[in-house]
This record gives sequence, C-alpha cells and structure tokens, in this order.
Amino acid sequence: MPVRSLCCGRALNLGLVSAPTEITEPVVTAAVDAALAAIESATDSAALKAVRSAHVGEASPLAALNALMRSVPGDQKAAAGKLVGQARARVTQAMNAREAQIVEAEATAQLAAETVDVTAAASTWRAGARHPLTLLQERVSDVFVGMGWEVAEGPELESEWFNFDALNFDEDHPARAMQDTFFIDPPEAHLVLRTHTSPVQMRALLGNEPPVYRISPGRVYRTDELDATHTPVFHQIEGIAVDKGLTMAHLRGTLDHFVKALFGEEAKVRLRPNYFPFTEPSAELDLWHPTFKDGARWIEWGGCGMVNANVLRSAGIDPEVYSGFAFGVGVERALMFRNDVKDMHDMVEGDVRFSQQYGMTV
Ligand code: FA5
Ligand code: MG
Repeated sequence: MPVRSLCCGRALNLGLVSAPTEITEPVVTAAVDAALAAIESATDSAALKAVRSAHVGEASPLAALNALMRSVPGDQKAAAGKLVGQARARVTQAMNAREAQIVEAEATAQLAAETVDVTAAASTWRAGARHPLTLLQERVSDVFVGMGWEVAEGPELESEWFNFDALNFDEDHPARAMQDTFFIDPPEAHLVLRTHTSPVQMRALLGNEPPVYRISPGRVYRTDELDATHTPVFHQIEGIAVDKGLTMAHLRGTLDHFVKALFGEEAKVRLRPNYFPFTEPSAELDLWHPTFKDGARWIEWGGCGMVNANVLRSAGIDPEVYSGFAFGVGVERALMFRNDVKDMHDMVEGDVRFSQQYGMTV
C-alpha cells in the first residue's frame, strides 16, 4: 500500500509496499519497483534520504526479505539469496546514481545563487578623509593640553566690539584697516566675520579669574584674494596666558616648545619688533627650520606680544597684579612649510585625494 510522507514541505511518494512475508519473484520485483519509483521521484537530498531509509533502511521491505532468508529451506536458499542480492544491488545502484545527480544539481544551483557579477558597477561609496587643517589644529591643541592649557572655541560671526574695540583698536585707528573686514548687514548690528582669532582673548578673560591658559584654533575671514599663499577663509590658532608674573621669557619659552613639538627639535623661533594694538610690546613671530623647501630660512608665521594693559582693564583685570602674553599663528601657512604644500588652492578645493595623502595624522 503506497504511503505518503511529508518531506521538505511537499509530499513525497515513498511508494512503500507492505512488509513481505515470503521470498518470491513477484514479491521481490514489487519491492524493487517501488524502491526505484521512489528513488526516481526524489528531487533533492533530503527527499532521497527519506527514500533511502524507507527502501534500504532497517525497516524496509528489502531488509525484511533479508531477514526472511533465515527461514528459507536449505535447497531454496541459493535461488532466494540470488533474488534478494540482485534486488539490493539494483536498488543501491539506482540510489547511488540518483544521489550523484542530486549532489551535482544542488551544487550547480548553489553556485548560481552565489554568483557575483564582476561586471556590475562598483559601489560608489568611497572612504573619506579628515582634512589636514583639522588634523593639524588638533595636534597643536594636544601640544598645549600637554602643558595644562585649556582648548576653547569662539564664534566666527563676531561682534565688532570683540574683534576690534575690546582689543584696543581705536574707532579711527588706522590699525582697524590692517585687516580687511567682511562687515555684516545691517551695519548698526556691528557684526563682522572675525578677522583673526584674537577676540577669543577677551572672551577667555571675561568671566574667568586668572590664571588663564587657553588655546583656541578656528576659522577667520578677510577680504583677501585666493592665491597660492592667501585665502579669504583661513585658520588661526590663538594662545593667551594671564597669570601673576608672566614675562616675555614665558612667551618665548612657550613658543620654543610649541615649534619644536610641531616642527621638530631643530626648529627655532625669532621675535621681530612689530605693532599690534592689543599687545605691548608686540612682535612678529618668525619660524626657522633647516629643511624648509627653499632651504633653511626664516618665515613669518604670526604675531605675539604681552597683553596690552588696556585689554586687561577692559576685562576687569588689574594690570598691576596680573600680566599676560598672547600669540596668533596661521594654520594654512604651517601646513605649507611643514608638509610642503605648494599652493593654498589645494587646501580649499575639497578634493578628497588631497586629504587622503595625510591618512589619520599629519
Ligand atoms: C593677526 O591676525 C594677529 N591677531 C596675531 C596676533 C595674535 C598678534 C596675538 C599678537 C597677539 P596677522 O594679521 O599678521 O596677525 O595674521 C597672523 C597670521 O595669519 C599670518 O602670519 C599668516 O600666517 C596668517 N594669515 C594672514 N592672512 C592670511 C590669509 N589671507 N591666508 C592665509 N593665512 C593668512
Ligand atoms: Mg602679519
């Protein structure tokens, strides 16, 4: 009697015959035919496994025929043995042949399913890279944090008062024109795009009791034309220290450590007398290194000086008790001579291939 069994989510005709009770040719043939039909109907390895256990397993008609051999009279044993042996051989052979077909078909199907189309368009996601100007500012911040300084940021849209007045630029002082300024409409709002990072000096002093040691990297704006050595949007790093007893020697020592940490032990700093309204005395800050691209030479990098007593007074700090120093340097310039970038266009154009040269560090 045919038995249906559920395998692999669909009906599989196992085609079982009832257990044989005698070894005769019709009985053996029926068992073999049922087994061959079931083998033929198996289309995957799970189905074939079910067929194998039903037709050649311990509970199969063929196993039962084998067991019946014990009760076959001696003179009929050879003929019965031949019948059963041939039956087993046919079924086993058919089983093996089907198994080979199924294994191959399944392997082919798996390969097809896992095919990678090597002609498909590549993914358009490409790894980005952090900009070397950002990396350099972080590196400088790290140097100062190592000396116990704090890092702070100031607003890029700044009040004219912080950018100029608080820094001792007189209303009609020609110094106000030193830095070509983007003024923001309406004029009565007195807002500018900050022309330097020096307004953070006053922001650091207001609301903070000295001692103050603060470094502040950030973006600044001037109406300069974009060329190889200037950009209208650039970055500076400002430092301000106010404490009891600070002198030019502390400024000098701090800058020495700073340039050696950033450019190497052979780097040197030179202070050249200059004028800034917010420092007195003031100096141009020059940098020397033996391996700059045009050979060993001095390069102007920024400005510095002792915080002007008027600036301290504007912040409510008594210049008789406290003194301070400040400096401001250009980050683009630093990248030019530190990493041998010839043209500032490369820094502003935003081509990721430029940034990728630096990896995760400069
Ligand atoms: C100042 O901006 C002063 N605030 C520096 C200062 C700070 C003096 C604290 C005293 C105390 P200066 O205008 O020279 O100074 O600019 C400083 C540096 O910014 C320059 O030496 C240069 O490295 C960089 N710089 C100026 N203009 C540009 C520009 N258009 N593009 C790129 N870098 C620039
Ligand atoms: Mg200058």
